[in-house]
Amino acid sequence: PATPTPGPRLVLVGPPGAGKSTVAAALARRWRLAVRDTDTDVEKVAGKSVADVFVEDGEPHFRELERAAVATALAEHDGVLALGGGAVLHEGTRAALRDYRDAGGAVVFLDVSLAHAAPRVGLNQSRPLLVGSPRAQWQALMDARRPVYEEVATVRVSTDGRTPAEVAVAVEDAL
Ligand code: S3P
Repeated sequence: PATPTPGPRLVLVGPPGAGKSTVAAALARRWRLAVRDTDTDVEKVAGKSVADVFVEDGEPHFRELERAAVATALAEHDGVLALGGGAVLHEGTRAALRDYRDAGGAVVFLDVSLAHAAPRVGLNQSRPLLVGSPRAQWQALMDARRPVYEEVATVRVSTDGRTPAEVAVAVEDAL
């Protein structure tokens, strides 16, 4: 398929624990492309961790920084782009993804079940939305977001029981 130029070769969306970062790295290795992650971009702009932005500035502020980071990356990143799990919650971010898709871009929803996501997210305190009761919180997030991930994505790939390299092959097959 045509890829917007300049612009990401593909964008990965999905919940925490889907393996977005590791799969992005595996795809970037396969295709010899650069990888970019909007959580890291937000941390650079904010000068602090995602968790600290949530606590000190609140989630709406984080989502706005994230929207700006996604817009910048969609405009200038020529490689693989992983979005934070909740980026699709912001209407402005969804609109930017729709434009990217309309220009021929691929948005991959990395799907995962609780059983496979849980060991990855675990009790990781760096994920501010999952503090307290991570398993129940994760499932609630996923139930609420699944329709949104499905709406923004051009393809869905399950990561359950697959290594990042295997998911990378499945993504390539799905495109
Ligand atoms: C979030 C996911 C995190 C990070 C922030 C919020 C979410 O990214 O952006 O903690 O709302 O799902 P990962 O999906 O990379 O963990």
